[in-house]
Amino acid sequence: MKNFKKLMLVLTAIAMVSCGEKKEKEQIDLNDNSVGTTESVTEEKSTQDENVVEITITGNDQMQYDLKEMKVKAGQTVRVTLKHIGKMDKNVMGHNWVLLTNGTDVPEFGALAGAAKATDYVPAGTDKVIAHTKLLSGGESDTIEFVAPAAGTYDFICSFPGHYALMKGKFIVE
Ligand code: CO
Repeated sequence: MKNFKKLMLVLTAIAMVSCGEKKEKEQIDLNDNSVGTTESVTEEKSTQDENVVEITITGNDQMQYDLKEMKVKAGQTVRVTLKHIGKMDKNVMGHNWVLLTNGTDVPEFGALAGAAKATDYVPAGTDKVIAHTKLLSGGESDTIEFVAPAAGTYDFICSFPGHYALMKGKFIVE
């Protein structure tokens, strides 16, 4: 009986040890797997991030953007989404997002654009615009894609008449 008890103890000990080993091994395997997965996902993401940057900016019925600054890297593909989160029509509270070439005089361009109603306030044939969204009413959104220009600081505005005074920001290319 004593021997049987001893045997049971030994067997239990062996079982515990082997079980512990197994668990440890499983955990290591799991860790290996998850580390591997995490790494590859991170790599994919960072590769994507290097090539494409997505920026969402909103405009509201109070004539305000929610961003005053955007930062990208030269040569990156930039995907800008403008969302008009207000309710007003584009005839009275239209919003767009217009990226101007470096050194463009904003008030001068704003005045010119404000008179270009027929082309939704983006002057036809202008060489001052790098990229622009459509003119939006409340509830609408538009996404545009373009390649970030050379390093520098650029202005973006809403070119609806008078809006550039409030709806403006800096587009910084590093
Ligand atoms: Co506007």
